[in-house]
Amino acid sequence: MSATNRGAEREELDGYYTPLPCARAICERLLSDRIVSKGGVMLEPCVGKGAFATAISRVLKPEKLVGVDLRRYPELASVPLHEFVESDFLRYEPEEYVDAIITNPPFSEAEAHARHALKLIDPESGVLAFLLRLNFLEGKDRTEHFWAEHPPSYVYVLNRRPSFKKTKRPKIDKKTGQIVLSKKTGKPLMVTSGNDATAYGVFVWEMDPDVADRTTLRWLVW
Ligand SMILES: C[S@@+](CC[C@H](N)C(=O)[O-])C[C@H]1O[C@@H](n2cnc3c(N)ncnc32)[C@H](O)[C@@H]1O
Repeated sequence: MSATNRGAEREELDGYYTPLPCARAICERLLSDRIVSKGGVMLEPCVGKGAFATAISRVLKPEKLVGVDLRRYPELASVPLHEFVESDFLRYEPEEYVDAIITNPPFSEAEAHARHALKLIDPESGVLAFLLRLNFLEGKDRTEHFWAEHPPSYVYVLNRRPSFKKTKRPKIDKKTGQIVLSKKTGKPLMVTSGNDATAYGVFVWEMDPDVADRTTLRWLVW
């Protein structure tokens, strides 16, 4: 089991879906910090069940919002996408440049997704924002290659860890260590858990040539 509690239990396709309030807070901050403007063409390349797509639609009000995923999840039916493409994002080549790409990608393939996404955004003004574990910053090979080639313009540290996976588990009495039973039914009282044992941040890349050639660290409260 890894420090993230994900080891042997890794969800198929890295299906750790972002809580909507977290996705919404990220979009609001990108807007209030003038990193992303309202309108334009936006892409959620690993759209999953649509948390980021919903937040993008509500907060950033794109003219066109495209979602891509290896699978079409039934929950997407209620998400206001203009287009859904069932595809491997790493092979997805849209005909037009995209103004903003925002997602929580599969962490195991985050670098490949970032490299591909950087080719799809407008080379003069495009923005890419990925919600990732903060340890994406480290790594010998990544430092020598990816970070040297593509330093982010911002890293926003999330003030608290999102709970990506809602799982029900029996409540344990802290004093006795025993499972707490419901007074009504006599069955174990179930509580929701799922916080990840690692810190998260939003990594932002901007293509604007006037953007300073340095990385700014900020904190995002949500
Ligand atoms: C970590 S989940 C996040 C989903 C969504 N972005 C969110 O924030 O809730 C990753 C998603 O990426 C999708 N996925 C994994 N590999 C992919 C690929 N190569 N191309 C497109 N989607 C992929 C999975 O199906 C899953 O929905």
